[in-house]
Amino acid sequence: MAGVPGLCALLLASLCGLQVQGAQALRAAGSPAGLTPSAPAGPAALLLRRLRERVRRLQGGEGPGLGPRAGWLQQPLDPFNSSDGRTFLQRYWVNDRHWAGRDAPVFLHLGGEGSLGPGSVTAGHPAALAPAWGALVISLEHRFYGLSVPAGGLGSTQLRYLSSRHRSAPSCAGGSAAASPEVREPASPEGAASGAAVLSSGLCAPGPAGAPPPPRICHLGACGSLSRAEDRAELLEALQALVGSAVQYDGQTGAPLGVHQLCGLLLQGARNGSHPEAYLGLRLAAQVVMHSLGQRCLSSSRAQTVTQLKATEPQESGVGDRQWLYQTCTEFGFYVTCEDPGCPFPQLPALPSHLELCEQVFGLSASSVARAVAQTNSYYGGQAPGATRVLFVNGDTDPWQVLSVTQASGPSEAALLIPGASHCADMAPERPSDPASLRRGRQSILRQLQTWLGQAKEERQ
Ligand SMILES: *[C@@H]1O[C@H](CO)[C@@H](O)[C@H](O)[C@H]1NC(C)=O
Ligand SMILES: *[C@@H]1O[C@H](CO)[C@@H](O)[C@H](O)[C@H]1NC(C)=O
Repeated sequence: MAGVPGLCALLLASLCGLQVQGAQALRAAGSPAGLTPSAPAGPAALLLRRLRERVRRLQGGEGPGLGPRAGWLQQPLDPFNSSDGRTFLQRYWVNDRHWAGRDAPVFLHLGGEGSLGPGSVTAGHPAALAPAWGALVISLEHRFYGLSVPAGGLGSTQLRYLSSRHRSAPSCAGGSAAASPEVREPASPEGAASGAAVLSSGLCAPGPAGAPPPPRICHLGACGSLSRAEDRAELLEALQALVGSAVQYDGQTGAPLGVHQLCGLLLQGARNGSHPEAYLGLRLAAQVVMHSLGQRCLSSSRAQTVTQLKATEPQESGVGDRQWLYQTCTEFGFYVTCEDPGCPFPQLPALPSHLELCEQVFGLSASSVARAVAQTNSYYGGQAPGATRVLFVNGDTDPWQVLSVTQASGPSEAALLIPGASHCADMAPERPSDPASLRRGRQSILRQLQTWLGQAKEERQ
């Protein structure tokens, strides 16, 4: 892991019990304050990101009659260069149903790496808090995602204006009410149409010239031939993402499989005293996940992945794979690797494969990625961001929490680690089945908000 600093590793072995060494070593670089990554870089991201879209879409609860308004802000393409007059339109959503007027707070939901739908201001915790506060709820789609893509598309010259710093630059929104203290910047876009990838069909095609693919792997539902090593690595990454997603969205609406269901499938045989056929269970798990995404098979063509990621016309789906890959190569890293001895995917040449993708798609070298990650950590302060009135909320079963701030460093930089909660679970709409720890977590968020909004009010008077 030479060259990429700021790495963290997390073992999730205990989640799957002893029989299955269900450990997934997560290793990632970069921890910009306030950003909540939800997908690694690279091919595994494609599956994980589709699952993420599904979770967000189903949690969006875009019911009829709620009618939030969509609007468009004219924004400078380069906010750091005042002599560059080019602009683009950035989409936002407004829910003013509960707004009590000028002195009431404004809850601003900044979009992450995907499109934002109306559910971003009507569903989930910020919207649930709005009635009691008389708050105005606004969401702003991240530049270059969803429909907020500048004219000219996603070519490399244009992507220079895509970064978290461009996102955070002062926007030219006029006439908005005084902002409430920023609680955090959740990267939790609501999904638009889910992007089922166009995949070649044909299960278990024989390899060329008498080189059949490894018999067991082929049953797992790969889309194409597995005769090339890079394609086998691609399939293994997809399987890793399948396990990773069960952990990441454990217990959430829209997640096709949670940890217990996945482990149940893997341990089926062991439970009734017969030989454990974890492989059959994994195959079944893959089918469940593919079915939920409307896909027939697991993507396993590296060449196809690269071709898809090189396409510069904006995609109809809000997934934004190319944009996100660009941000991981130029800012974040976020590589999921598998180098711990307990990792169940031992053959993944993960890091070189991720870095190679930056080179193949954008011509960016491994050393430039390492430099970019170091700069990002230094710009945002890594895990000591020195923020004001920011509450960092994480779930302790979310693998990504290792990149966030989980310990308070002073009253103005608070942290909340919710026991048993998965990725961004606190943001999801409340459900009767929510565990008590999650309910208590939301109460703590509310109390923090009360304190800071109270202080802000006093300061204004
Ligand atoms: C700023 O914008 C002007 C006008 O488009 C351009 O000529 C100049 O190169 C830009 N400067 C930088 C640093 O990008
Ligand atoms: C018990 O194991 C056998 C052999 O693998 C399998 O056919 C059967 O379905 C299992 N029963 C249960 C209840 O899991």
